[in-house]
Amino acid sequence: MRQTIVAGNWKLNGTRQGVKDLVNGIKNGLTGSDKACVIISPVAIHLGLAQKLLSDTSAIKLGAQNASSHNEGAYTGELSVKMLEEYDVKYVIVGHSERRAIFKESDLDVAKRFKTIKKSGLVPILCVGETLEQREENETQQVITQQINAVIDECGIDSFDGSVIAYEPVWAIGTGKTATPEQAQQVHEFIRKMLADKDTQIASEIQILYGGSVNGANAKELFDKEDIDGGLIGGASLKAEEFLKIIKAAN
Ligand code: 13P
Repeated sequence: MRQTIVAGNWKLNGTRQGVKDLVNGIKNGLTGSDKACVIISPVAIHLGLAQKLLSDTSAIKLGAQNASSHNEGAYTGELSVKMLEEYDVKYVIVGHSERRAIFKESDLDVAKRFKTIKKSGLVPILCVGETLEQREENETQQVITQQINAVIDECGIDSFDGSVIAYEPVWAIGTGKTATPEQAQQVHEFIRKMLADKDTQIASEIQILYGGSVNGANAKELFDKEDIDGGLIGGASLKAEEFLKIIKAAN
């Protein structure tokens, strides 16, 4: 039985006060009987603050939005896994489409970051997904295969044991245009089958999240699909009330 994950990706948002309000809002709204594993991923500069705010609860886990493939050295602007561990970070998003498209992280860059994250014992959340153009050209499966195979080539199939994958169609991110539950399920099933070709146990145990305009109104029908094990949430994770609705949808 795979536990549903509801992970917030706050991207480049949040003041100190905003982080306090949001964390407290989520904390206060949890019932204690919620079934999902809840993760929040603030901007790195707010991780220390979030750590402090979460110090009296284990109901919300801390995630980071990226990590370097290097452990230390002359890599201006990067963050190492050891630094993240000092802030009780447990999960690291890697290969988000914004990192791939805007910051030009290649499949190999992403695979190297994934390798370092995995080696440290943190849990990578590997993002994969096609652009609208690629979907229209019927290249969805090919793109996803390439993105996942880059990690398998660099780290081996065993590296997916205990890792998380997030399918985030680029055309659904921040657009209000969610993939239908059927569209998402189709890709999730494809990912699970593709992993099963290499290792059936890893494939059946890995949590595959959907991301792209998930909100309180559409989360349940997505999460109800057989191969959808939760969501990676952008915009809707910035409002406690909306994020809590998504957490409830996992019950
Ligand atoms: P939105 O939920 O804002 O579409 O963002 C999804 C996302 O990119 C999460 O990583």
